[in-house]
Amino acid sequence: MFKVSIYGAGFVGAAAAQNLALSQIANVVLIDIDGGVAAGKSLDLLQTGPVLNHSASLIGGADYEATRDSHIVVITAGIARKPGMTREDLLRINSTIVSSVAREAYKLSPNAIFIVVTNPLDVMTSLVQMETGLPSNQVIGMAGVLDSARLESFIAEYLQVSPLDVRAMVLGGHGDLMVPLPRHASVKGVPVSELIPAEELNKMMQRTVNGGAEIVALLKTGSAYFAPGASVAAMVKSILLDERRLLPCSVKPHGEYGLSDVYVGLPCIIGKNGLEKIVQLQLTAEEQEALRVSAESIKTNTTQALSLLKPPVPTTAAPTEEEPSKAAEPVKADSGTAK
Ligand code: LAC
Repeated sequence: MFKVSIYGAGFVGAAAAQNLALSQIANVVLIDIDGGVAAGKSLDLLQTGPVLNHSASLIGGADYEATRDSHIVVITAGIARKPGMTREDLLRINSTIVSSVAREAYKLSPNAIFIVVTNPLDVMTSLVQMETGLPSNQVIGMAGVLDSARLESFIAEYLQVSPLDVRAMVLGGHGDLMVPLPRHASVKGVPVSELIPAEELNKMMQRTVNGGAEIVALLKTGSAYFAPGASVAAMVKSILLDERRLLPCSVKPHGEYGLSDVYVGLPCIIGKNGLEKIVQLQLTAEEQEALRVSAESIKTNTTQALSLLKPPVPTTAAPTEEEPSKAAEPVKADSGTAK
């Protein structure tokens, strides 16, 4: 059986583990700074085997050693934004956590394909690639599968058809600047523009862009995890079974769509080598421009994340007791709840 290690045993990590166990394609190792949470959730999931007819092995703990020689590493570790926290705080904390997890995970599984889930998604995926030095086809971010699934379910609900027959694609960054592509949405090949008035379709696209926030507002604490976990599992499956599915994922283009040096959501063929190919669609000038703007914003945020990660410039004066050195504060990397 394949081995998939998930760093961060929060809700997203656990939901991904559950989907992987049920699909019977991989044994799962759950890792968390709170080893008890990772061990407890693994044990609980293991005990679903006799009821749900799966025989996956699931183990959990805080010791990274258990992840050695994983085929796939999934990173959900990090924190969600808490009240009073600035975006910069989140960027700093998650950059620190994700970089360190990626570094250590890579040492144990240097041939693995890494799937990144922590927010801000595209920036974190970029950091993982830099930190591991892996070829970019081996480091992929999960966002487009989730954002597209949201749009697909809104279309299915509106038309009262099975979501199985609805296909839609969302590109760009996983944030306010994501780029839903209504021209490429269809019900069994029938363009949705022939089935849904433009105004209604616009509402669905807007709702998709706010999809994560809508759920955060309803839950009040925490964020979505069932659909994010299922989306991770779909990507893992496409890699391990070499399905070569066409999935929108955060990847690093080398000139495709006029983009480079950035991780951004694009249509991809996902197979045994991770990213097999970026699929070049014919976008309108407007769609292309929206994608460019989204990618530019990710570039700016990635540069900021890197500057936040740099060690502080040493000063000659020793910090006084009243002004303790900020760098000396330990980073609280609590359990792996990705947004
Ligand atoms: C969301 C998180 C997973 O969009 O980013 O719900």
